[in-house]
Amino acid sequence: MAYAKLLEVDGLLGSLTRDATADYQRDHGLYETTAIEPTLQRSACHRKDCYQLLAKAAAKICLRRLFATVLLRHRRVHCRYLLVQQPQLIGRDIYKSFRMGARRIEVLRGISMDIAHNETVFLSGASGAGKTTLLYTLAGLERPESGTVKFEGRALYGGSSSAEARLRNEKMGFVFQGYFLLHELTALENVLLPGMIGHRVIRGEAEESLAAVGLADRMHHLPAELSGGEQQRVAIARALTNDPDIIFADEPTGNLDSKTGDAIMDLLLNLARDRSKTLLVVTHDTRLAMRGDRQLHIVDGVLQ
Ligand SMILES: Nc1ncnc2c1ncn2[C@@H]1O[C@H](COP(=O)(O)OP(=O)(O)OP(=O)(O)O)[C@@H](O)[C@H]1O
Ligand SMILES: [Mg+2]
Repeated sequence: MAYAKLLEVDGLLGSLTRDATADYQRDHGLYETTAIEPTLQRSACHRKDCYQLLAKAAAKICLRRLFATVLLRHRRVHCRYLLVQQPQLIGRDIYKSFRMGARRIEVLRGISMDIAHNETVFLSGASGAGKTTLLYTLAGLERPESGTVKFEGRALYGGSSSAEARLRNEKMGFVFQGYFLLHELTALENVLLPGMIGHRVIRGEAEESLAAVGLADRMHHLPAELSGGEQQRVAIARALTNDPDIIFADEPTGNLDSKTGDAIMDLLLNLARDRSKTLLVVTHDTRLAMRGDRQLHIVDGVLQ
């Protein structure tokens, strides 16, 4: 809950109607709002205890559901605190075009979107619609022409490129379209790479990641000695190595048959859920996209 904020408000919870709460969230750029349990509000309760209890409660339960429950059950309880959580990733008014000689292709045309912590979001759209461009822009890899991207409260593209590279290395995992494994390195060496770039060589973690994707006995194989599904598993293990907060996956099942693709998607979704990772996945497959918490569809550079 590092990015949750505790706001002190005075007022009756009953007076915070759903509409008022929605207005409050919008005005403050907040995603979730939670009224805390009334037992935490007694004047005898120290603020520090309050924070600790809140953090525990929020870690366990869906904030939105807690808010609704408290709202219904304790309409007339005096409420002094609201726990609010900002979205983990916030994109605002993103524009991006590419120049091809004299021609300009407008790929992203004013995209705004939020992704909450631990949310699984699928992004779909026709080939060439701008999915990869949007994913890269949100991940700090492709600077937009205008607009902003904020990740965990930090503006991407605002600071030095080395600070941004460090942020990506430590907090983000990537599964690129078409695996992007280095062919002269073994599976284990490929998985070790992000840690080495961050000056953290943690062989044990890399081995654990490979075991988690079912490749404990393939660690010393070169990519050419692995099947497509196995190579994609290596790419997923690599995305997990630095224990990132968010994983961006671009068509992780694009090159695989449907059975292997389903298994890879199961793996990704299970790993994200078990390890509390946020997941943004690009896919053409609307059937797979239904398995996320939310689906986004991009058409002509605009989200539908
Ligand atoms: N570096 C670039 N230079 C010029 N044009 C580019 C560049 N990158 C992307 N484009 C163009 O931008 C458009 C969107 O590309 P993008 O790769 O984001 O599409 P996509 O939705 O991921 O497609 P696919 O499903 O085929 O992967 C395409 O028309 C592409 O040709
Ligand atoms: Mg693409």
